[in-house]
Amino acid sequence: MSVKENYLIGVEQLDAQHRALFSAISRLKSILLEEDFERNKRVCKELVRFLEDHVTRHFSDEEAYMRKIGYSHYARHKELHDAMVQMVAAMKAEMVASDYSPRSIKHLVGTLLPALIYHTESVDRFIGKEDPPSETANNAALAMQKTVISVVNELFGQSAELSLEAMSPDTLPDGDRTYTLIDCRIPQGERFRIMTAVDESAAVWAMNGLFCAQLEPEDELVRSALEELNRLITIHFVRNYADGVFAQVEKNIVLTREQFWALRPTYAPLCSLIFEDTHGTYAVSAWKL
Ligand SMILES: [Fe+2]
Ligand SMILES: [Fe+2]
Repeated sequence: MSVKENYLIGVEQLDAQHRALFSAISRLKSILLEEDFERNKRVCKELVRFLEDHVTRHFSDEEAYMRKIGYSHYARHKELHDAMVQMVAAMKAEMVASDYSPRSIKHLVGTLLPALIYHTESVDRFIGKEDPPSETANNAALAMQKTVISVVNELFGQSAELSLEAMSPDTLPDGDRTYTLIDCRIPQGERFRIMTAVDESAAVWAMNGLFCAQLEPEDELVRSALEELNRLITIHFVRNYADGVFAQVEKNIVLTREQFWALRPTYAPLCSLIFEDTHGTYAVSAWKL
């Protein structure tokens, strides 16, 4: 996996660090996918340590650069870094507790890869550009469309067809699907519920592309990456909807089909989108709570 042109921010030191981060994740991922994990455990541990150090160093260098140029979105950007450092620390603890089990490392890779791609492409890219990603669309449907286009469409295929139909047991008949619920709030206090339903086939297809692998639906990489993507979509959606404010996620859970329909608010959502292509369906709805 290489750093795409749109990940580059034009500051040599920071771009080199972005490259190093992506290549370490890519190496870690290749080791995980090999049969004999035990044999590679030592390399895995080293790579995890490298990632941990490098994420911390990269963030502090990037923050120093933002301060140097007087970037006006510094505080908000730093909050995202701090949250990611905390996330890595929590996963490191999980890895140590399980003696670096493949599952715990997959949890790290599955979460960190989409998180870093998203952060580098959608947040870092705007460092030094004073007009923020003018995504202040105070229109929920537009905000959600922009979100899905930038985050999901790329993953679930360019040809996905968009439908504005509301999410219901009729529009989403029974099938192998992952159902999730995310509740979040913005600092001023508004709360949102974002619910997603994604066909297993679509998730596996997307994650195979992301990880360059042939994964099973129950693989920890698929599960973690899907969870992280749903979280990113939520944050991105709220950011578009609420004038650039980052949401705090309060709850991010996987539900059964029964729980999913039971927890769906009965009033009209802010917006509801269903993406369909040959690989399956990705549906998302957002409500104000
Ligand atoms: Fe960065
Ligand atoms: Fe950053």
